Amino acid sequence: MDRPLRVAVLASGRGSNLAALIAARLPVEFVLVGSDKSKAGALQVARDAGIPTVAMSPKDFPDRVSFDRALFGAVAEATPDLLVLAGYMRIIDASVVSAWEGRAINIHPSLLPKYQGLHTHRRCLEAGDAEHGASVHFVTAELDGGPVVAQARINVGPADTEETLATRLLAEEHALLPAVVRAIAMGRLRWDDAPLFDNHRLTSPLTLAHL
Ligand code: GRF
Repeated sequence: MDRPLRVAVLASGRGSNLAALIAARLPVEFVLVGSDKSKAGALQVARDAGIPTVAMSPKDFPDRVSFDRALFGAVAEATPDLLVLAGYMRIIDASVVSAWEGRAINIHPSLLPKYQGLHTHRRCLEAGDAEHGASVHFVTAELDGGPVVAQARINVGPADTEETLATRLLAEEHALLPAVVRAIAMGRLRWDDAPLFDNHRLTSPLTLAHL
């Protein structure tokens, strides 16, 4: 590709992963940041960086699929090459997700396939796991279920709480997500019915050391 990768980001929360993406000075152009929450910190992070924003509220739509069509339609109008879900906390209708196959990634705070969905830090502690982590995966219709491309791991100690895990893991997320987006922007990581890294089909998740 002879131009920077066009990247759109969807986020529901404070936007620290978006801030990490921006701070990483990636060879990409951020074309849009969208949210389902008009007060999301991520929107302010985007505005401060001069990135166009869009916010839509699900309660202004009759049902989930019409909301998804509207928000993802606005994303499509920005013609991104890649859509990054960075703390986007809504389940997306399968009919809408399918159009983004191979072009959308999500960051999830668990070592997928463990702990899809919410409360990952609590579930990790309850299970007595010695390790916790974050995963970046391609988005499919199954919630947190698409092919995992990269993971970061942290050890879990006896003094850990949901809060300490969240804080330590977030620092890992802030390194992992930009590294994955950089690999996509460089053409090292791509989708051809499955994730390919350096033209080889991925058989296990990448780590920061590979990226
Ligand atoms: C992150 O932990 C992300 O993995 C999860 O939601 C959180 C978003 O944080 N899906 P932020 O909005 O990027 O600060």
